[in-house]
Amino acid sequence: MAYERIHPAEYAELQAQIVAIEHEQSLTEVTNLVAREAARTVLDLRVIHRIEYLLRGADKGEKKRLRALKRQALRSHDRLGQINEQFFVTYRQQITSRVYAPAAVRQRLCGYAEPGEHEVWSDPPRYDALDTFIDGILQIPVLPRAQRRPEPEMVYYQPTPARIVLDMVDRLALSAQDVVYDLGSGLGRVVNIVALVSEAKSIGVEFEPAYAAQAECCARELGLARAHFINADAREVSYGDGTVFFLYTPFKGIILQRVVELLCDEAAKRRIRVCTYGPGTLDMVQQEWLVSVDADEPSVDHVAIFESR
Ligand SMILES: C[S@@+](CC[C@H](N)C(=O)[O-])C[C@H]1O[C@@H](n2cnc3c(N)ncnc32)[C@H](O)[C@@H]1O
Repeated sequence: MAYERIHPAEYAELQAQIVAIEHEQSLTEVTNLVAREAARTVLDLRVIHRIEYLLRGADKGEKKRLRALKRQALRSHDRLGQINEQFFVTYRQQITSRVYAPAAVRQRLCGYAEPGEHEVWSDPPRYDALDTFIDGILQIPVLPRAQRRPEPEMVYYQPTPARIVLDMVDRLALSAQDVVYDLGSGLGRVVNIVALVSEAKSIGVEFEPAYAAQAECCARELGLARAHFINADAREVSYGDGTVFFLYTPFKGIILQRVVELLCDEAAKRRIRVCTYGPGTLDMVQQEWLVSVDADEPSVDHVAIFESR
């Protein structure tokens, strides 16, 4: 296979991109997260990946120069990452010392979401600077090693984009009387975001012990007293206190059917709301005991909100 050789003009162009980022003072302002994330993406996708590709076809002399350029890009990338880290540490301290009320946290998060022209669900979904911020302040690590073997109808972990969670919280207008369950809560993003930006109690139910433990640890370290996690199969939990149930397509088939039955039983006792995101929305649309409260037709692309009849 013949690899592409680097053209001197491209070398200069790659170097110019790195230097432009290094010299952009605004990127060092700690709160300028969106621009910093955009610059990190350029370094990652347009510079470092390109250099790695060009290295395959380079001769000895070119390799030396390209490797030096790659090191320069990586340094720049790391430096921006360190500024992010400082920002997250400071904001975490402010959260733990209760500097902000939920509404103020919500306001701050607003600034980092990057709404696309049309929200479209994909696998994986689109994540943006808000997700980097959320992962930074919640200190969500790389996925811990799973301890239990999932059943075939259980869906693997994939977090709901934070802007989607915020949109749901805004539309639900949660109060201190609400108890929000995230069924299949993974590393606890939804539950912990709900606890950060609302007065509601939030409870995650997660099958995988390592994920549930990580989520719990994150909530305790941030002092999110209203966030709780249960390590259990969602079919085996009693939902007597729940007012809102969120499902980002966590399971399918018989498991979903059983959990829907449990929610339907709860709905027979009091009014509940069920929120879905992703392909699982199509299953919920068919439930006759639920009615959509959205102005638009429920779709996989946004959180669909249903109310029990
Ligand atoms: C698509 S992820 C959603 C994660 C989380 N809700 C979020 O948005 O960040 C699905 C999660 O459901 C969990 N899960 C699958 N089947 C489950 C079950 N029967 N009971 C509890 N959790 C389950 C998986 O382990 C995985 O973490």
